[in-house]
Amino acid sequence: MNQVYFVGAGPGDPELLTRRGARLLAGCSTVYAPPPFGEIFAADVAGKTLRNPFGYYFDPLLEQLRTDLAAGDVVFLIPGDLTFYAPFQALVAELGTQAEVIPGVGSANAAAARLKRTFDLPGVSSRTLLASPRTLGDRGDAPRLAEMVGPGTTLLLYMNNRPLAELAEELAAGYGRDDVPIALLHRLGLEGERVVQATLASIAEAGGDFDWFNLEGNSKRPALTLIVVGEALTAEVDGGWWDYRRTHIWQQEGKG
Ligand SMILES: C[S@@+](CC[C@H](N)C(=O)[O-])C[C@H]1O[C@@H](n2cnc3c(N)ncnc32)[C@H](O)[C@@H]1O
Repeated sequence: MNQVYFVGAGPGDPELLTRRGARLLAGCSTVYAPPPFGEIFAADVAGKTLRNPFGYYFDPLLEQLRTDLAAGDVVFLIPGDLTFYAPFQALVAELGTQAEVIPGVGSANAAAARLKRTFDLPGVSSRTLLASPRTLGDRGDAPRLAEMVGPGTTLLLYMNNRPLAELAEELAAGYGRDDVPIALLHRLGLEGERVVQATLASIAEAGGDFDWFNLEGNSKRPALTLIVVGEALTAEVDGGWWDYRRTHIWQQEGKG
């Protein structure tokens, strides 16, 4: 039976596709790719049927998919991967055993690599919170961002739709300080990549006139900008933690 593979396609750099994803992409006959992923993977998609899933309502999409499945395997290229903020769950559920999910490099991973930072650090960050101001608005009982963060929180914000100055002010209230580091990472791995790092107090100015969040244009699609906030972005790290683990954890390995 032919399969539908939901392949984590990475943040935009085609080199970040996994080897498994690349093998499945090479072997399929139809590719569903939201823009700009059809262009990003143009060389791999050549000769296959290419469709934009966002051009269909759900039932016609399923119908088209079933027709495509009769011709061979189908690959959905998922921006980042399915783990966070991917709209493909209903399709995966509907397809049941005919659906398979292939993990990939999410924008969170790409951000950590670009910043060269681990987002949790012993004694600095005890928790990482992933959220989106868009989906927080979906439920009236959701806490405000200021109630969710505090000292020791690393925050990753997807699909921000709030003006930067207002957002930074609320986060500063939550952290209880406005010198907490913040990074804006735009179009990671894509043309036009842009990264700025500042503090909650200075980010509105550091961000300049650039429309980081598609707040000014007509497009309703969220901008490809990830926000990372927290002390882990700049905290100094020495080898103490390494040596502690060497003594208490790694050295014990193999001792039965
Ligand atoms: C619908 S969500 C998709 C997330 C995706 N499933 C992932 O794991 O990265 C879109 C949001 O992810 C973030 N994002 C996705 N690709 C990005 C990129 N190349 N650079 C920066 N942020 C990105 C942005 O916050 C954007 O608004």
